[in-house]
Amino acid sequence: MNGLFDAKTAIENRRSVRSFKSDPIEGEAMAELSKFIKTFPFPFQHNTEIKFFKSQPTKELYYTIRAPEDNMAFISDLDPISLGKTGFIGELSVLKATSLGLSTCWIGTFKKSELLSVSPEALVGVDNPGISDPSVMSRATVCCCPVGYFEEKGLRFYDRLVKTVFSLNRKVLSELLEEPSAEPKIPQDIMFALDMGMRSPSAVNMQPWRFSFDDNFESILIGLPGDFKPFKWAYPNIDIGICASHVYCALLSLDYAPKVEVFTKNNGVVFRIFPGKKVMKRVFKRKLLRRPIKEINKGKTVATSSANRLGYNDLRGALRTVIALYPTTNPVKFGVGIALRTATALCTKIDPKNKGVIGVVRTAALVYSKLDTKQRGFNKLLTTAKTLIPVFRP
Ligand SMILES: Cc1cc2nc3c(=O)[nH]c(=O)nc-3n(C[C@H](O)[C@H](O)[C@H](O)COP(=O)(O)O)c2cc1C
Repeated sequence: MNGLFDAKTAIENRRSVRSFKSDPIEGEAMAELSKFIKTFPFPFQHNTEIKFFKSQPTKELYYTIRAPEDNMAFISDLDPISLGKTGFIGELSVLKATSLGLSTCWIGTFKKSELLSVSPEALVGVDNPGISDPSVMSRATVCCCPVGYFEEKGLRFYDRLVKTVFSLNRKVLSELLEEPSAEPKIPQDIMFALDMGMRSPSAVNMQPWRFSFDDNFESILIGLPGDFKPFKWAYPNIDIGICASHVYCALLSLDYAPKVEVFTKNNGVVFRIFPGKKVMKRVFKRKLLRRPIKEINKGKTVATSSANRLGYNDLRGALRTVIALYPTTNPVKFGVGIALRTATALCTKIDPKNKGVIGVVRTAALVYSKLDTKQRGFNKLLTTAKTLIPVFRP
């Protein structure tokens, strides 16, 4: 799949970050994120636009958050289906950014006059006399999203409050099922996809999504609760799309090829996701895995857990390792071409003699073995990961 990231890791690592360094996004990461947004085969037609724009390092645009240099504006038609699709597309972009070591935060309350002054083309809607047509209030910039590097020192009381009081709180599954009695019967893979869905961000952490299923769990329906009172604001429909995107990419990560239908019920958007059957693994993948499967699997676990433990910032080096080496184990998910190109380029940087698939596999095993669990302890892992950073720096 075109540029897809490791869904579980990205979903588990994503947090709404409200403290950014003022640095711009590195060129390589920016190129990869833009390419993903342009080329990812979203599973429906849409007219959502994502515009990147530069901002001043002040609190003018996001009130409590000092804006980083790079930001995205999510521009959408305002009917429930379009808003849901914008949530879906915006969140896949957020997860892709996370997989590249970047921090993000969906922002619904941005100052339109400031956006107009820093980037008039990013502001669509009645507040922009250049772009809007007040007689047709059907399209607008519904949210913005700062994208940059986490600044730990910048955490203030508000950030800590939001992080501990709202950010990690999630409803339990039984509260989110239209029919709680279905819970014990939910198949394992669908349970995993729902768990990934429940980790979605939502405006004021409302988690308005509710799950239901049709017979035999052939499809998962994600919509607003039956007694939901329609708000004037756009966010509940955006939230539903965000949650659907998590469920969708969780299923992709399990090798399903899900189909998606989007429709409305009681004026709210509903996503119906058909997991379908798991796609056959390609012979190529089996061939590639046959060689050092033990080392690669062990290394993958160690690299992932060390990445998680290293924290968001120092993680960049370890993440590069993981991102770079995942393709050698998951060519089906990443696309064989992209996987090989990325992995080969990185492996020849380590040793020019490392060529082709065998070279990639050998290098993967070698690098993973450097992140061996025998070197227990956080500090040793950190040191090892840091020694690897220069290898993966462009
Ligand atoms: C559509 C949408 C709008 C949001 N608007 C804001 C906002 O204006 N300001 C803010 O600080 N956080 C905003 N958030 C972030 C939520 O507060 C956050 O997702 C939620 O508290 C869960 O925390 P987490 O994202 O760290 O898991 C928004 C999230 C979504 C999905």
